[in-house]
Formats: sequence, structure tokens, C-alpha cells
Amino acid sequence: MGGREVWPLVEGGKGVAATNHLSSGAWALAGGVGTISAVNADSYDPTGRIIPQIYRALSRRDRHEELISYAIDGAVSQVQRAYDMAASELSRGIGALNINVLWEMGGAQRVLHGVLERTRGLVNGVTCGAGMPYKLSEIAGQYGVHYYPIISSARAFRALWKRAYSRAAEWLGAVVYEDPWLAGGHNGLSNAEDPRVPQDPYPRVKELRAVMRESGIPDSTPIVMAGGVWRLDEWTDWIDNPELGQIVFQFGTRPLLTQESPIPEAWKQRLLTLEKGDILLHKFSPTGFYSSAVRNAFLRHLEARSERQVAFSATATGDHQFLLDVGVGRKNYYVTRDDLLRARQWHGLGFTEALKTPDNTLVFVAPEDKAAIRQDQADCMGCLSQCGFSSWADNATNSTGRLADPRSFCIQKTLQDIVHGGDTEQNLMFGGHSAYRFAKDPFYSNGFVPTVRQLVDRILTGA
Ligand SMILES: Cc1cc2nc3c(=O)[nH]c(=O)nc-3n(C[C@H](O)[C@H](O)[C@H](O)COP(=O)(O)O)c2cc1C
Repeated sequence: MGGREVWPLVEGGKGVAATNHLSSGAWALAGGVGTISAVNADSYDPTGRIIPQIYRALSRRDRHEELISYAIDGAVSQVQRAYDMAASELSRGIGALNINVLWEMGGAQRVLHGVLERTRGLVNGVTCGAGMPYKLSEIAGQYGVHYYPIISSARAFRALWKRAYSRAAEWLGAVVYEDPWLAGGHNGLSNAEDPRVPQDPYPRVKELRAVMRESGIPDSTPIVMAGGVWRLDEWTDWIDNPELGQIVFQFGTRPLLTQESPIPEAWKQRLLTLEKGDILLHKFSPTGFYSSAVRNAFLRHLEARSERQVAFSATATGDHQFLLDVGVGRKNYYVTRDDLLRARQWHGLGFTEALKTPDNTLVFVAPEDKAAIRQDQADCMGCLSQCGFSSWADNATNSTGRLADPRSFCIQKTLQDIVHGGDTEQNLMFGGHSAYRFAKDPFYSNGFVPTVRQLVDRILTGA
């Protein structure tokens, strides 16, 4: 794949620092493909300590510039370290290192240019998901690296190919099909798909291969199957199947639990106790995408906040005839009778502050929550191209033009916090829907945590 001799096994990139040089270098050294997250990766001071990403500038625009420079420095140092770890194999053409970016991250194109410029010869390619990264192929081609679009439907790939990728066909390393119902992290569900009705990946990947063939892409260009892959003896009908062409498997959740995985110990231990149903596919991410994460106290808190929600009108219309008398000071909001009674009840329980959402609704929160939400919004450093939570946009006005949405959260803050040892119950813990298998798989009995090489060897046996 991508001109390298590799096991058909990839560790998918995991932001913000849940894959780094330690895990990716180990995957490459074991002959697989390691993927460094280039989404605000860590950099190090001369003594080897992680440099905390502190934002000093006063304006969001200037903090956004700080963010881009942290992101470039971080990804470059991760790539250099990973390469050094695996140089013995990589220099012989074995194993590979990719970097991963979220197309919707703030300054994605600038970060890619900055990183690829400074890592020439070290990186095989760029994997990129979320949104429609039309420019990915052009940027990759400019630096002579492969590109690996992550898509969740044949339709999305067709659009990308027609509009842009066909002009850089020689740099297409593989197409990653990510199952939008099962994979950890952000999920590519479109309006055409029902989050509650998962679809079998086989016909969807078959359709993707058909679109690739129509486009003149040879069957030797792999499709990387990502999402819900645990043991390969469950995928034997996919391997060497002429209908699908070359298939490679990507793992995201399972490699969270290795010795080299950079996530903190508490997160690793939590993985061993998860049960079926503990992963929630939800819509709270400020990117606007669905995403999958452990349904911990952090997510339950967001679910409860959204439940304490009422629709309002600025004037008395329809059944919105009742003036809200709690949470809103002297402002006039008309709600239904039932909602008035519900709002009074929440107020009595301590949820005394009503916050407006962009959808003409109000959510009721406790005063300390209101303060935290407003502080997080004020601290925004523009880590996404468009943020639902802060209303930042990387455009001329630096605004989405919509109200900041208090039903969402600051994704930069929480992902940085959890990966650097913050409370695993109070932060967003991305995870795939197979995570419950840790507790059931005998490989992990007695709390066994494999090295990356032991995991790769295990997967190669089919188990
Ligand atoms: C904690 C976590 C963080 C992730 N972050 C990213 C990310 O930043 N970018 C990305 O393209 N995919 C991300 N993913 C998806 C993985 O790269 C991979 O495709 C997916 O997890 C595969 O499905 P699985 O979870 O069933 O193994 C993440 C997954 C997890 C579990």
C-alpha cells in the first residue's frame, strides 16, 4: 500500500493525541501502518517534557495563529520521533507512517503544508476524514505523498473523485471506508442514513469498489475497512474476494489498549470494563457531525442538558401563550403551558439559568454550568473551521452567523484534558461500538495489556 510493503493492518489516527509517535512508531516497526494524529499534537521541550498548549493572545484570531503553530510544531516532532523509532524497517521500505487530519479542523490546509514541508521523506501519506476534503489530493501531490480519503459512502467518494481526486490519481494510496454506525470518533452519517438503523458494510464497500472501477482505479488500490473490526477470522469472506479487490483493515478502538498507546492508564482500565451499549452515537460535537464515545458522566450531563429544553416564541403565537417566568430575567419568551410547568420544575431543582440556542429554544442549566460554558466560549482559539459551540468560523467575520450553542462543548479543551490525564468521567472519551469486546476477549484476561507487536501478531492469527 502506498508503495510500501506492509501488513494489511492500520492503526487509524486518533485525535488529539490518542495516537502519537509511540503508538505509530510501534505499528510501523511491527510492519503495519501507524497513523500519527496531526490534530494539535504534542511537542516537547529540550528535556523531553510535553509543552502545555497555553494560549496567550487576547483575540480569537491571534489565538488561532498560536494554535496553528502549536499544531505544526507538534505534528513535526511526532513524525520525527516516530520515524526514529521505526527507521530500521522504514528505511528498508517496510511498514509505513501516515499522518491524520480532520478536514474541518481550524487551519487544516496551513497545518498540512507546514507539516509536510518539514517532514519530507518521512511520511507515506495523509489520511483525512470529515467534510469533503477536495484539496487533499492537490496538497499531497505537491509534496509527493499519498492521500487516503476517509469516506462513509460510495457517493461521497464519487463526488471527491470527479471534482478533484481524478487529477492526482497517482497519489491515491487507498480509500478508507469508515462504518459510520460503528467506528469510534467522528462519524460520517449523512442525512440519507438513519443513525438507529445500521447498514451492513459489505454491500456499501462493494458499491465503493464499483465506483472505483468505473473511475479507472485498479483493484490493487486497497479499500481500507474501518469501524467494527476486531478479529480477522470474522472477515474471511472479505479477504481475497474478487468482488471487493484488495482489502486492508483499520483498527481504532482495539489499539487504544496497548502498552505504547499514549492514552492515560485510567482510560485504558475503563476500556476493560465497558459493556454493550456503553458507547453512544450522538450529535453533541461542535463540528455538527455525529460521533461515538463512551456514555460517561460527561455525555450524560450533555444529554440531560438537552432534555431540559423548551421551544419559545418572541410573541404569543399558536400554543406558545405562556410567558416564561423563570431563568430569563425580565426578557419575554412565550412557551407552551406544559413547558412553563417543566421550566419551573427545573428552576426549583437548581437549573436556574436559561440559555438561548440557535434553534429558538432555551436550555436550563445550573449557574456554575452557565459560567463554565461562557468561559469556554470566551477562551475559544478557533480549533475548527466552524464551531457550533463558540460560533467561531475561519472566515472574514470569524463568525458562523449563528448563536453559540450551549448544548455542545469545547472539543479542544476536553480532548486535550482527557489525553493528558484529566478525569475520564468528566471528559469526552471517544470509542468505537466494539469496545465492549475488551471485557469479553480472553486475550485481555487478567488485565493483560499487549505491546503493539503482540497485538499485531495476535490479529495476524485471525484472533
Ligand atoms: C479515541 C478515538 C479517536 C479518534 N480520532 C480520530 C481522528 O482524530 N481522526 C480520524 O480520522 N479518525 C479518528 N478516529 C477513528 C479511527 O481512526 C478509526 O478509523 C476507527 O476507530 C475504526 O473503528 P473502530 O473504533 O471500530 O476500531 C478515532 C477513534 C477513536 C476510538
